[in-house]
Amino acid sequence: MKYHIVTYGCQMNLHESEKIAGILREKGYTEEADIDDADIIVFNTCCIRENAENHAFGNIGALKKHKREKKDLIIAVGGCMAQEKGKAELIRQKFPFVDILFGTHNLNELGDLIDKKRAQKKRVFSLKEERGETEDNITPVRTGYPGAWVNIMYGCNNFCSYCIVPYVRGRERSRNADDVVREVEELSKEGYKEITLLGQNVNSYRGGETSFPELLDRCARVEGDFRLRFMTSHPKDFSAELVEVIKKHKKICNSIHLPVQSGSNRILNLMNRHYTREKYLEEIALLRREIPDCAVTTDIIVGFPTETEDEFQETLSLVKEAGFASAFMFIYSPRTGTKAAAMEGQIPEEIAKDRLSRLIDAVNEQTRQISAGYVGKSCEILCEGYDERKKLYLGRDEYGRMGYFEGEKCLIGKFVTLQVERANGISLYGSIVK
Ligand code: 5AD
Ligand code: SF4
Repeated sequence: MKYHIVTYGCQMNLHESEKIAGILREKGYTEEADIDDADIIVFNTCCIRENAENHAFGNIGALKKHKREKKDLIIAVGGCMAQEKGKAELIRQKFPFVDILFGTHNLNELGDLIDKKRAQKKRVFSLKEERGETEDNITPVRTGYPGAWVNIMYGCNNFCSYCIVPYVRGRERSRNADDVVREVEELSKEGYKEITLLGQNVNSYRGGETSFPELLDRCARVEGDFRLRFMTSHPKDFSAELVEVIKKHKKICNSIHLPVQSGSNRILNLMNRHYTREKYLEEIALLRREIPDCAVTTDIIVGFPTETEDEFQETLSLVKEAGFASAFMFIYSPRTGTKAAAMEGQIPEEIAKDRLSRLIDAVNEQTRQISAGYVGKSCEILCEGYDERKKLYLGRDEYGRMGYFEGEKCLIGKFVTLQVERANGISLYGSIVK
């Protein structure tokens, strides 16, 4: 029997889908397949912005035909959207062909839900309130070689006023530090070359007595030839100890994802972010003092309720001052139940779109300049895959810059030295010298 998983959203969801695959394997679905050949299709949804939801709704809707043609096909919907208030009911009504619905606190039960569905005709909809569970007992089917993800914590306590994550993922739960280190050891032994520690806000990790910088330090001491990354960091909990640990270990990439969201103090306050533009820039200055080559990437939202043109200009100027290597940029999307959704002064879409496009231009220009600076130099790339269209291998350097190159034998999982010959937009092109 074969399975197909459709994932929306972030790296956390991608890793969660690896765990879903682990559960499916235990239930006898031995092989991954295209959507048309699968005996079970699982949607792991995201609700962080409206377009992620619309996308999922569209794709689930398209399966009506599959179900008509293949009567014993099982269709399951899980993830953040399933856990969102009122959405389970909507899915129940809108998609009568969905067999199983499970929320974010039900992952451990997915196997049982599949058994139940196989034994009965009735649909199995199971939503649980949060019980502080973690998913550490599930063995994932890893799909990202040479990269591997490791959860260090689940949930979020921050309640940024625009964000739905705390409502659908529950309160912060940190994993035991020994378990995290053991998983990193195993991954290193298995030959993974890039290990990423995952949490909504890794800086507030607390595994008993162990803080995040201590955990990172322990992970970096694990033997093996691998890179270590972590995401996401919250500027309010950023610390000098963290910078020290990054600086101390060669294994830890000199690269940090530090979402700023806005350059305006008034908007940051409305967003409930608990830092100012000045504090953020001081953190970057500290990083650059200690680790001059450290790349900083970020997330930015434009069009938050009441954001003025001048406040947007403050975001543009912060982009320059912070010297971001790249950024994920979003138009604010109202999420029902969050504080910001009820605020007055929602920004019209055309204005938000215009701000986004100006912001993208500014960030891209910076990103291009950094890439152009590589030409004529060499860098170390971890080869991650092969681009069938370009007929070139690809991979990233420690700062996250993508490089393309030719190779005669399979290079995936190897560290190579790339002599950069040209930069095309953001990406680097060159040949391997070692
Ligand atoms: N609208 C737009 N962007 C959002 N993000 C979170 N919630 C929203 C929202 N309602 C963005 C933030 C966060 C990233 C993961 O998604 O920038 O850092
Ligand atoms: Fe959402 Fe803020 Fe938590 Fe990130 S830190 S998941 S943006 S509430």
